[in-house]
Amino acid sequence: MLCLGVESSCDDTALALVENGRLLAQSCSSQIPLHAVFGGVVPEIASRAHLQFLPSLWKDLLAKSSCNENDIGGVAVTRGPGLLGSLLVGLCFAKGFAFRKQLPLVGVNHLHAHLLAAGLEQEILFPALGLLISGGHTQLYKVLSPFEFELLGKTLDDAVGEAFDKAGKMLNLPYPGGIFIDKLAACGSPIPDLLPKPYLANDNLNFSFSGLKTAILLHIKKHPELLYKEMPTSENFIPVSGKRADFCATINQTIATTLTEKTRRALEKFGGFRSLIVAGGAACNSQIRQVLTELAKEKKLQSIFPTPPLCTDNAAMIGFLGEKLLQAGYRHGFELDGIPRGKKIPNDYYFV
Ligand code: KG4
Ligand code: ZN
Repeated sequence: MLCLGVESSCDDTALALVENGRLLAQSCSSQIPLHAVFGGVVPEIASRAHLQFLPSLWKDLLAKSSCNENDIGGVAVTRGPGLLGSLLVGLCFAKGFAFRKQLPLVGVNHLHAHLLAAGLEQEILFPALGLLISGGHTQLYKVLSPFEFELLGKTLDDAVGEAFDKAGKMLNLPYPGGIFIDKLAACGSPIPDLLPKPYLANDNLNFSFSGLKTAILLHIKKHPELLYKEMPTSENFIPVSGKRADFCATINQTIATTLTEKTRRALEKFGGFRSLIVAGGAACNSQIRQVLTELAKEKKLQSIFPTPPLCTDNAAMIGFLGEKLLQAGYRHGFELDGIPRGKKIPNDYYFV
C-alpha cells in the first residue's frame, strides 16, 4: 500500500510516501531558524509555520516521487504527543486529503514511530528493548511487536535532548545545542567524576536530568571561561580542543553512562530480548551510540540505531508505522484528535 505519512508534532514539517516498508520520497522543512532566536520552540510560531510550509512540501513530494496522488492508498498522521496547535495542522491536512480521496486514515503515536523508524533500513528482531531519547521524551519500552509497547520507565523531569539543549544554552551555543556539544566532545577528554550521574541510586527504570542541569550550571558559574563570549553560528562554529571541549566530553559521557546503566538494568530485569533499539534525536549522539552498541554486543543483542535523518523528527517513520497499522486493519475516523505531550494516547482504533 502506498501510504502518505504526515508529521507536524513539533518544529519539523514533513510529508513522506512509504510503500511495502520502504521510503519512496520525503519532503521536510525544519523550523530551527525561526525558533533559534528564542532558544527553544515557540508553539504559536510552530503551528503557523506548519500551515505555511505544507502546500509547497506536498507539491515537492509528488514531484520527487514520480507518484500521482491517485496512487496513494492510505493516510497516516502523527496524532501525538506533541504541541497541540502543531498537531492540529497536520491532522487537518491528513483528514482533508483522506476525505477528498475517500482513503483510510490512521493516527500514529509519534513515540512508537520513533522506536520503529529503523525498520525502514533493517529488519527489527522482536521482542526489543527500546530506548527513546528525543528533545521531548526519554523512555524505556518493551517492544513486543510493531503494535505492542509496554512502558518500563521515563524521565521524571527533563528529556535527554532537553538536557543537552539547556547545557548548550548555558554555554551560549546555538540552538539546539546537542549537536554542538557532541562536536566539541569529539575534541576533548571527559574529566572523571566532575558531574554526578543522575538518578541511579534507586531500583526503578525512570530517569531524571534536572540535577545534572544544576550541576552543569554551577560548574559554568565557577568557570565562566567555558562560556562563548559571542554565540557562534552553525556556519562559523569550529570545535577546538581545550577545557570547553573536555567539559562537553564530560557531559556526553555522563549522559551516555547514565542511559547505559538504566538500559542494562532493564535488560537484566526482564530478559528475553532479541534486540536493543535506540531512537529519537539524541540517538545521533556519538558517545551514546558507542556505549549502547557495546552494551548490545555484550548482551548478544542486535543493536539498532536509525541513521541520523531517521533519528530526528521525520514523516518516513509515520508512513512506515502507519502502513503497518493500515495493513493490519487499524483505522481512525475523522473525529481523530491531537493529544498534547503529557496526556496518555488512547487505544481508540477501530478495525476493519
Ligand atoms: O527527536 P527529535 O528531532 O525531536 C523530538 O521529537 O523531540 O530530537 C531533537 C533533539 C534535540 O534536543 C537535539 O539537541 C538532540 O535531539 N540531538 C542531539 C544530537 N543531535 C540531535 N543530542 C545530542 N547529540 C547529538 N549529536
Ligand atoms: Zn520526535
